[in-house]
Amino acid sequence: MTASSPLAALPIDLTGTSFIELVDPSLPAVDLTAPFRIAHVEIPGRVALAPMAGVSVQAFRRQGRRFGASLVCTEMVSSAGLHFANERTQDYLRIATDEHPIAVQLFGTDPAMMHEAAAMVADSGADIIDINMGCPVRKVSKTGAGCKLLDDPDLAVRVASAVREGGGLPVTVKIRRGMLAGSFDCMTLGPRLVEEAGVSALALHPRSASQMYTGFADHRLTAQLVELVDVPVFASGDITDRVRAESVMALTGCAAVMIGRAAQGNPWIVRDLVEGTVTEPPAEERVAELIRFIREVVREMPEERAAGFLRKFYGWYLRGAAFGKSTRRELMEMGAPAEVERWLLDRYPAALPRLEELERTVRYPDETDRVIELPISAYGGG
Ligand SMILES: Cc1cc2nc3c(=O)[nH]c(=O)nc-3n(C[C@H](O)[C@H](O)[C@H](O)COP(=O)(O)O)c2cc1C
Repeated sequence: MTASSPLAALPIDLTGTSFIELVDPSLPAVDLTAPFRIAHVEIPGRVALAPMAGVSVQAFRRQGRRFGASLVCTEMVSSAGLHFANERTQDYLRIATDEHPIAVQLFGTDPAMMHEAAAMVADSGADIIDINMGCPVRKVSKTGAGCKLLDDPDLAVRVASAVREGGGLPVTVKIRRGMLAGSFDCMTLGPRLVEEAGVSALALHPRSASQMYTGFADHRLTAQLVELVDVPVFASGDITDRVRAESVMALTGCAAVMIGRAAQGNPWIVRDLVEGTVTEPPAEERVAELIRFIREVVREMPEERAAGFLRKFYGWYLRGAAFGKSTRRELMEMGAPAEVERWLLDRYPAALPRLEELERTVRYPDETDRVIELPISAYGGG
């Protein structure tokens, strides 16, 4: 951190105090629409969608792009799943022509398998390969992957090098601050990933893995990391409105922000950040976007899986007084997406013109999109 940074004066251990509460909303505006580069890949703005397992499907990413996200990322893809030709894992490599620039996020711990997976990701047409070194979920961490790599920097560097060599694409890594509360491991791992493995950008979610999603993202660490590396750093965590986005950008010097939970069922936040608006979308617009989202998800995955996947989105999209708890509950209990769509159009006929406009103006992914052909096995899980 330089002496001129407004953060330099802050004590580093302000446990319990949100960095964001310290932010001065009168800071000079930053340009969230300015392009920048990750290696040779041009990123046309500073607001990216964070990768979210169980959320960041193609429909979510394409919608995010439509609302102005400058970079989207797939949910994490298992390198073992790709190695064993798991059909569902391979489905994650479906990239539509209008998703670029896009990062595919890999997780894994075996450098050889990650090398192989990176080559498959490159074949899928991705622009960037991101590596997950932050996931605290046990299913991932018990294999030594995700956040566990924060505790094994030598292996983390070998994994990142293998991915860079295997894919030949720019590699980014998404990390947390460390495994345990108060950890600063990201400050040694981040620079090593850049200097020793040739990583082209870092994303920091400055919570510890043990924190999961509790407490707050301490972006003072983001500011410190920015000072330590010569590549773009993404700030991830608790960016929920334009003031926070601009403040975190201005105070940390990060290259861009990532929006995670705030974008669930809420693509409007991306546009609000990019354009400086504050949108409270009317009920019919929420319903129209939800129905379009349902239609894309149903094309993307088998119907039964789509029905389960979509359930959480009903509550996310239909928040606010215009809908009410009973509406959300009724939808969540419904089975088939087609039934949900009929029910919504019955209750909110004003959504129809907006939906028809979306159908007229927004293309669906089709056979002209590049879909990687890989051998398929029936191996389950992933
Ligand atoms: C449901 C969910 C799934 C997530 N999945 C991933 C993931 O697959 N890979 C990853 O790097 N981070 C994942 N994250 C972390 C987010 O990318 C982000 O860093 C975190 O949610 C903090 O940002 P936010 O406050 O904007 O949500 C996930 C977060 C959530 C809430």
